[in-house]
Amino acid sequence: MTQAPTRFWHPFSDMAKIAGHEIILDRAEGVWLWDRAGHRYYDATASLWYCNVGHGRSELAEAAAKQMLRLDSYSSFGSYATEPVRELAERVCALAPINEAVAFFTTGGSDAVDTAAKLVRRYWNAVGQPERQLILVREGAYHGMNTYGTSLAGIPANAAGYGDLVPGVVRVARDSAADLARSLDEHDGRVAAFFAEPVIGAGGVYPPAESYWTEVQELCRAHDVLLVADEVITGFGRVGSWFGSQRYGIEPDLIVGAKGITSGYFPVGMVLCGRRIQEPFWRGTAGVLRHGYTYSGHATGAAVALANLDLIESENLVERVRELEGVLASTLSVLSDHTLVGEVRTVGLTAAVELEASVLSEDPGVIDRVVQAAHERGVLTRGLVGRALQISPPFVTNADELADLATVLGQSLDAVAEQRLSTPVAHR
Ligand SMILES: Cc1ncc(COP(=O)(O)O)c(C=O)c1O
Repeated sequence: MTQAPTRFWHPFSDMAKIAGHEIILDRAEGVWLWDRAGHRYYDATASLWYCNVGHGRSELAEAAAKQMLRLDSYSSFGSYATEPVRELAERVCALAPINEAVAFFTTGGSDAVDTAAKLVRRYWNAVGQPERQLILVREGAYHGMNTYGTSLAGIPANAAGYGDLVPGVVRVARDSAADLARSLDEHDGRVAAFFAEPVIGAGGVYPPAESYWTEVQELCRAHDVLLVADEVITGFGRVGSWFGSQRYGIEPDLIVGAKGITSGYFPVGMVLCGRRIQEPFWRGTAGVLRHGYTYSGHATGAAVALANLDLIESENLVERVRELEGVLASTLSVLSDHTLVGEVRTVGLTAAVELEASVLSEDPGVIDRVVQAAHERGVLTRGLVGRALQISPPFVTNADELADLATVLGQSLDAVAEQRLSTPVAHR
């Protein structure tokens, strides 16, 4: 079927291939999506790790409609506020592992990363240590795509081709507290903060090594370096606790969040700040924080977030993730034996099915073909860093659906393995 031309430039996409071949989705309910032709698909990734309460939740649509009809939104610059925004700040601060936190709202994760990065530098400036400018990040990390996030990116391809980015970013090895220690010693007194995801997500789903976070925390304290947990994926239940920081015993100075705060029904992000960061701005002499977005503290976004948190609580969805963690791990574990698979990593209700390194190096397009084969069999997933399949379904999924998911992924891998046997490398 030929398709009408598109003027929609898709993010993170090769438009030379996609224009004329868009997959147009039409409706959704729970863990299921339907395209325009009526084909049904399992949402194996909760879209981009956000649709935690599942699709089609009338409670969220009703909360948005009710708030829009009462007061859509109004600027929060200066002294204006609305009730849902105040309530949301109260609620997320109470859930987070930071004492007496306050919340700065944004429109998504990248804005929140930008805010946190500016804030830590501004903080040190305000307390008389302006030489603390460096931000340490991990190799393989993903921190969004604003210029700060791009600069912090530990995925080299995501930072390539943009010329000079924000200076003062230092990368350390992904899972090595020793490398962090070395870097902190090297730059002692000049480091503003260490930014890290409790579990690396878009970089390939890497749960931390056993004692990693305890050691990181001690190092940051010893060097008086602020610890920023980027919980855009791990926040709001994905790893079986409200925040990944709780699972790993992290007590961050700032928490960055987005996605799951509204399950994606409205674009909202946040930065939660502990007392130390607040001090110069809320009680001290730092003056105005000249930073904020038109939609920082959007009334309708906050109303949707509150309704989403109500659903997560009333349906015990964080506990459900904990229950499903073992189910997901055991159903996907059978894939580890597949000839195309190198490793399966799981934590909470997320996983990466990583293909074998030798297969990937000989046949770099293989992950896209597995994604396509899964699509043809009714499962929507995507490739992570060109190496692994992303698995992160909505929390409302169940054990039978996870078993079916593993079966379909197995069949998709089989189909690609067979095709590889029958097709010479040059024609794949
Ligand atoms: C850890 C992390 N930080 C930041 C972001 C950026 O969030 P957004 O895409 O909402 O701007 C993402 C997005 O996936 C993320 O995974």
